[in-house]
Amino acid sequence: MRTVLIAACCLVAALPALASAPVKPARLGLCAACHGETGMAQIPGAPHLAGQKADYLREALKQYRDGRRNVPLMRAAIGPVSEADLDELARWYSAQSPQQGQP
Ligand code: HEC
Repeated sequence: MRTVLIAACCLVAALPALASAPVKPARLGLCAACHGETGMAQIPGAPHLAGQKADYLREALKQYRDGRRNVPLMRAAIGPVSEADLDELARWYSAQSPQQGQP
């Protein structure tokens, strides 16, 4: 019983930390093929996204979705996403820190 109580207390204490970290977006798997899960590009020609301003990323994604940036590769990848999905993806990549030693 005591162990359960202690475990419950730990869980409650850990919750605020979990809430502040961005949730992994459901659509991230697709993006990861080219941009990596942590925003470090996996293919030549794909930009690193880690640590970019969330506003900038959100705006870029909107431009691909609406066709103002006409890059077929990214337009196909992004598809008809909702504002909420764009926001989630932008915040995810923005929260990553750039790493060294990758292409
Ligand atoms: C097939 C590879 C591929 C996939 C999959 C892909 N991208 Fe891209 N992405 C690119 C390339 C290449 C560019 C550069 C296009 C250009 O020149 O504008 C790019 C550009 C971007 C940019 C603009 C970056 C900047 O600095 O202007 C953002 C943001 C982005 N991608 C996010 C995403 C997200 C989010 C997903 C998943 C929904 C995704 N990409 C899926 C290849 C890909």
